[in-house]
Amino acid sequence: MRMSIGTIVALLVALVASSVRVEGGAIPLSASNATELFSASELGDVWLIEFFSPGCGHCRKFAASYDAVAERLHNEDEPVRVHVAKVDVNLGRAEKEWFRAYGLPGYPSFVRIEKHHAELRGGSNLIHVFSGSRSVEAMVNFARSAEHGKTLDEREREKQGDGGKHWRTKIVLVASSVLALALVLLIAIQMFGPQPILPETGPADAVRTKKKQ
Ligand SMILES: *[C@@H]1O[C@H](CO)[C@@H](O)[C@H](O)[C@H]1NC(C)=O
Repeated sequence: MRMSIGTIVALLVALVASSVRVEGGAIPLSASNATELFSASELGDVWLIEFFSPGCGHCRKFAASYDAVAERLHNEDEPVRVHVAKVDVNLGRAEKEWFRAYGLPGYPSFVRIEKHHAELRGGSNLIHVFSGSRSVEAMVNFARSAEHGKTLDEREREKQGDGGKHWRTKIVLVASSVLALALVLLIAIQMFGPQPILPETGPADAVRTKKKQ
């Protein structure tokens, strides 16, 4: 069987294309190559990034599922291109600083970044933090629509709100204990304190009246 030049070229193109295609799993990133890859991606693209630590059990447990999320989303049929990636926060200082910059609660944490701006941490990139239960389905939905997620601003406002409530509770507690203490003191003074000087009655009274005269 002889192949035409066209067929050979088509086969070669297919071979090259398949080797260039992103592998199934999540893309490992460092802070510096993340910056490069992010600026090379297109406006409107979505980045799903896991911050993990190799020593964390929950991270290891979810690793295979996260690769499954990547396989689902690294797909030409996705209406919006999603880049599923992961950052080992123990890689170096820059990675840890990046993790801290988002104020993330712990490992693993997942953020969804909608690219509206060239910089990874640029203010106009909409950043959501995953807050759902850790399942492939929830994570895929989160990457597609920010369902199960909160923006960094919302999280910040919530934290402040909680702080406010905390503060108010404390004020109420202090005020009521001061009141209770005052009440106890008042009762104690009534019971054991110096008795009010009552006008004496009887002969002494008579003496006093005499003296006055
Ligand atoms: C980014 O850098 C890290 C650390 O050097 C490396 O492990 C990773 O493969 C790189 N990622 C890409 C997509 O080049």
